[in-house]
Amino acid sequence: GKGEHRHFMHKEIYEQPQVIGDTLNTMFNPVSRTFSLPDLPFALSGIDRVTIIACGTSYYAGMVAKYWIEQLARVSVEVDIASEFRYRAPAMPKGGLALFISQSGETADTLAALRYCQAQGQHIISLVNVPESTMARESEVALQTVAGPEIGVASTKAFTTQLTALACLSLVLARARGAIDHATEERLSKVLIEVPARVAEVLAHDERLREIAEDIMDARDVLYLGRGTSYPIALEGALKLKEISYIHAEGYAAGEMKHGPIALIDETVPVIVIAPSDELYDKTASNVQEVVARGGRVIFLSDEKGVARLGARAVSLVLPNVDPFVAPILYAIPVQLLAYHVAVAKGTDVDQPRNLAKSVTVE
Ligand code: M6R
Repeated sequence: GKGEHRHFMHKEIYEQPQVIGDTLNTMFNPVSRTFSLPDLPFALSGIDRVTIIACGTSYYAGMVAKYWIEQLARVSVEVDIASEFRYRAPAMPKGGLALFISQSGETADTLAALRYCQAQGQHIISLVNVPESTMARESEVALQTVAGPEIGVASTKAFTTQLTALACLSLVLARARGAIDHATEERLSKVLIEVPARVAEVLAHDERLREIAEDIMDARDVLYLGRGTSYPIALEGALKLKEISYIHAEGYAAGEMKHGPIALIDETVPVIVIAPSDELYDKTASNVQEVVARGGRVIFLSDEKGVARLGARAVSLVLPNVDPFVAPILYAIPVQLLAYHVAVAKGTDVDQPRNLAKSVTVE
């Protein structure tokens, strides 16, 4: 049941500290204080090409993983939407790693892409939330998110546990390839282990996000901006909002603003900016100035330092200070809660939005 929560989505958002912890525990070695994977039938050290394929929210988790794997493991990563990938029938040199991300493990296009990659001689790893699913059965290795059943059609805890597992996988791959030194691995492992506690802190902003949602509920369009790993979080925020509140929303790479979407900016379009203090913060902040200068209404999600540096030019939310590595996991939460509260305020069917199915088993 929903317990004290009004909707499954809200309950599932609140389960995140627990299920992220559960997912970390499946891969954490308390003796070495680092992460490892189950035994693999192939050597990770020999992997020099990774293809990640998924749909919807799972695809955005894959986009974040591309940044992590490229930066930490120094391997080139391609990430694609399953329905595009499968019909493009791309050439794939044998021995690459193909990684499929799916909550259900049954999404038709992702499954078809998996079978295609198998025929192309790729090593197949899936990351699913349903261990007995078709994708898990058809993979060489099935990694699992331990999110538990996700009832709300809008994915929340499945997404953050996917990110968690992918962060661990990135560290393991980086170590296998000798791309990361031990001190860095230990430091980042520690940062990951602390994520459940930080997520719990973010949840404390629920009421503030409900207030901010009141400012958004009457908008016709909403823009979400981010750079680096915050870019996929912008895309995810926009997807959440359109899915359950039926407001048109778009996620954009902040640096792409001036190449078109800035033309949309006026006082009627809320612009939600995902800007943790990281090496790209200054670039994103300067995009925010451009929006403000055109009368845009900015909602700025950052940490203490980031909010202080921006000044009083935006409505802001102060999130915990975290290492940039785990910021996308943390910043996924306020965009979930924001979409949730907008939907509740509009009176839509939050858990069962119109036209959508939990598992898309037709192409
Ligand atoms: O079960 P999957 O992860 O393969 O599902 C993929 C998408 O259908 C799913 O993430 C969808 O986009 C969600 N409704 C998003 O909230």
